[in-house]
Amino acid sequence: MTEESKVQWIYASKDNEELEQRYDVWAGEYDKDLDESFGWVGPKVGAEVFAKHVPQAAVILDAGVGTGLVGVELRKLGYTNITGMDMSQGMLDEAARKGVYRQLDQMVMGEKLDYIDDAFDAVISIGVLTLGHAPAGSLDELVRVTKAGGHVVFSLRPDVYEEHGFKEKQSALEAAGRWELVEVSDKVKIMPKGEPEVEHQVWAYRVCPGGE
Ligand SMILES: C[S@@+](CC[C@H](N)C(=O)[O-])C[C@H]1O[C@@H](n2cnc3c(N)ncnc32)[C@H](O)[C@@H]1O
Repeated sequence: MTEESKVQWIYASKDNEELEQRYDVWAGEYDKDLDESFGWVGPKVGAEVFAKHVPQAAVILDAGVGTGLVGVELRKLGYTNITGMDMSQGMLDEAARKGVYRQLDQMVMGEKLDYIDDAFDAVISIGVLTLGHAPAGSLDELVRVTKAGGHVVFSLRPDVYEEHGFKEKQSALEAAGRWELVEVSDKVKIMPKGEPEVEHQVWAYRVCPGGE
């Protein structure tokens, strides 16, 4: 299978179970494919926005950790207290090899997460909130597990933001006083080698105390 058809195969998953199985299969080749064939810059771009808002001592959740590429970028920027979470055990096993995560947990975004309220100072989620992956409703749980004054930082395709419930969910969380926007990045060509037409923006929100 070519790298391009692997991505189509991932996106053609009919449900979470199939998506998890397909990421399990892809896990061993993911880093090589993403780097050599796509030039995936999501982890670096996301970590740079994150670092503008989050202190190095923060307790961090990397939601949809994949093989741990975001953790590697965060470690370069001085972060050391990082938990990773993903639906795919195969991807989590690859993330463990990076040696930058304190803890790795198998969970599904879109369902209730098995973390207490306010468990983290900051959450980062890169390349996960998208079609057929984690839905807009996942954001409720990311806010719940983040302390007031902490941050939720994630990447999103502009068309997915507009057309797949994210615009409404992000606005609803703002209207309910759950979070406030601190930054939205310019559009970035996130896979400049393989799919130069695909752009992402990185959104950074600060979680508010209380809220409705
Ligand atoms: C494109 S990869 C991104 C991985 C990593 N964040 C990166 O930047 O390289 C998407 C990851 O999200 C995970 N994923 C997709 N949907 C998920 C969900 N609903 N809950 C948890 N993980 C999910 C997949 O297993 C995969 O590891």
